[in-house]
Amino acid sequence: MSKKLNIGLFGFGVVGQGLYDVLNKTQGTKAQIHKICVKDRSKPRSLPSEYFTFDKEDILSSDEIDVVVELIDNAEDAFEIVSTALRKGKAVVTANKKMLAERFQELFDLQHRHQAPLLYEAATCGSIPIIRNLEEYYDNDFLSALEGIFNGTTNYILTKVFEENKSYQEVLRAAQVLGFAESDPTLDVEGFDAKYKLCILMAHAFGVFIEPQFVFNYGISKLSVHDIQYAREKNSKIKLVAHGRKHGEKLAVYVMPQFVDQGHLLYNVHNEYNGVVVEALFSDKQFFLGKGAGGHPTASAVLSDIAALTYDYRYEYKKLHQPINIRYSTDLEMKVYYRYSREEQLNRLRFNTILERYESQSYRYVIGTLQLSELIASEIEKEEGVFLVQVVV
Ligand SMILES: NC(=O)c1ccc[n+]([C@@H]2O[C@H](COP(=O)([O-])OP(=O)(O)OC[C@H]3O[C@@H](n4cnc5c(N)ncnc54)[C@H](OP(=O)(O)O)[C@@H]3O)[C@@H](O)[C@H]2O)c1
Repeated sequence: MSKKLNIGLFGFGVVGQGLYDVLNKTQGTKAQIHKICVKDRSKPRSLPSEYFTFDKEDILSSDEIDVVVELIDNAEDAFEIVSTALRKGKAVVTANKKMLAERFQELFDLQHRHQAPLLYEAATCGSIPIIRNLEEYYDNDFLSALEGIFNGTTNYILTKVFEENKSYQEVLRAAQVLGFAESDPTLDVEGFDAKYKLCILMAHAFGVFIEPQFVFNYGISKLSVHDIQYAREKNSKIKLVAHGRKHGEKLAVYVMPQFVDQGHLLYNVHNEYNGVVVEALFSDKQFFLGKGAGGHPTASAVLSDIAALTYDYRYEYKKLHQPINIRYSTDLEMKVYYRYSREEQLNRLRFNTILERYESQSYRYVIGTLQLSELIASEIEKEEGVFLVQVVV
């Protein structure tokens, strides 16, 4: 029998206001917003002032509130709020992927110690219900891979770059004006955001907790017209792809640009959409597509978590208990396109083999194979005037 929940909401920004809207427009949801904690006292609000508080204790210490919904934009404050709520035995819903990925083990332990559920579908791939599917649907079907486009901002930029023949910088500036990209876009464009989501999903897909600091991420900020032209000549696009793939007992996990051709499921994932491809032993490839960002799409995942709490749902982290002998490894050979301008930049990477080499007055590239561990050790993400794209064979 489901129960009526009283929500204490932290944050009333894009997603918080989206949640207020979707709750009001959804008939039959047994939940209501009781109090909203925000930060800036001078900001005008679209709701009466009695809804709001600036003191987190009005929610965390209130006996009337059953569920804390954390939708703020600061990972450290969010951890304080979420961990305190769990310690008090309150159910928590959050969309904060940075906090989750960086403090995953602690939050996992807190849930168990205090028997309080923590749900976070909105933290990974916006409106796509991937965590619940990994927990429930793929409970028995052993997964071999989970990969996809996990970041709406970069996918929006890459879509426009390929559709509109504009440079990366031009499209980024336009995306910032339209509100599709932050004024400091680093977390999105350098692949950190996708990496946080990938680390969270690896626990639910393979039962492996991986600290994001150990996972390779290479973004799209150094993309040039030469790379776009190369992709076009190969009838391909460049997408920022998050990878989690089993190779025997090893799990390779990384985020980097990849050439995708027309036959690839991710080729037609456009604009702010995300796409997730799941490969399983018996069901083979399956594909999820949905909006990866935005107030209402993200709030729809938050709403689904709130609804799940009305029937006492919690993640069981089922893959942790499966007899799958698997460990995170960087011992993987991969094929990459490496574009550079000066000869000495080729020596920044130790290739196992170089399969193709091109030189012109304006740029050079090689296609070659190297180890993922070598990419990590090289700190190639710090090198200017070069670009890396994975070539999947
Ligand atoms: N936007 C998306 O499309 C999207 C998609 C998926 C996940 N998310 C995640 O959802 C969360 C919220 O994102 P958003 O885009 O809604 O952020 P946002 O628009 O920047 O809003 C942030 C809100 O948090 C409040 N806040 C910040 N620090 C606070 C504190 N210490 N105590 C109380 N309130 C505080 C702000 O208060 P004031 O109003 O007083 O400034 C504001 O209302 C983030 O974790 C984000 O990563 C967002």
